[in-house]
Amino acid sequence: MPEVTLTTLTTLNGLKAAGEKITMLTCYDATFAKVASEAGVEVLLVGDSLGMVLQGHDSTLPVSNDDMAYHTACVKRGNQGALILADLPFMAHATPELAFSNAAQLMRAGAHMVKIEGAAWLADTIRLLADRGVPVCAHMGLTPQTVNVLGGYKVQGRSEAQARQMRADAIALEQAGAAMLLLECVPSELAAEITQAVAIPVIGIGAGAATDGQVLVLHDMLGLSLTGRVPKFVKNFMDGQPNIHSALAAYVQAVKAVSFPADEHGFNA
Ligand code: KIV
Repeated sequence: MPEVTLTTLTTLNGLKAAGEKITMLTCYDATFAKVASEAGVEVLLVGDSLGMVLQGHDSTLPVSNDDMAYHTACVKRGNQGALILADLPFMAHATPELAFSNAAQLMRAGAHMVKIEGAAWLADTIRLLADRGVPVCAHMGLTPQTVNVLGGYKVQGRSEAQARQMRADAIALEQAGAAMLLLECVPSELAAEITQAVAIPVIGIGAGAATDGQVLVLHDMLGLSLTGRVPKFVKNFMDGQPNIHSALAAYVQAVKAVSFPADEHGFNA
């Protein structure tokens, strides 16, 4: 049997240092975990987007921590060496104590790192988790769990004041111990500035090509949609490909070659 190469946080930091792009995709089950990790996807994100693409809800809010633990355990069984990142869902990190017990459940289920949506207010929670052996990815910009506060799925950081705040928050979360940042729907120029300003890897979705890596929702990049609405930052990697294996390989190749995302997939301030 060929030896499986394990992707760790050290691997991701090394990729950032070397200027090589990091590949991440959402993943919710064992079969896709196997094919995506074999295609070279370095990080499998068990995203709470499963509430929309698997469960058919109109937002991620109904997803529970038990749902996340179940899918994380499924992904772990098929994974061939990728780093598994699991989302703390809506309200699972409403207090540091809740974050602590819910993150522990996800780590026990097979996650190597947890992702938390928020901004500078997360600093204490991130410190608590990081000090106790739970690496944290902070998800900033468009945070779908706060869609009702944001008034929709809108690009964040377009005004100078918002951009200044986001830069300061990113640095504060790195100082609190965040191991990675994820920026969703942020103007490309702002995402590039934040990527330069922090030493930890920054992954983008709808955040331009200058971040250290890219993520897409698996179903989106395979051209599958429940609603028919396809965000501007999505590319259908099934186009021109004979099967799912080659579509996943094409995604990895395009991110590594920096041919995805193109300008048309990004946003201006
Ligand atoms: O839940 C998810 O799939 C995510 C991605 C959109 C980054 O957080």
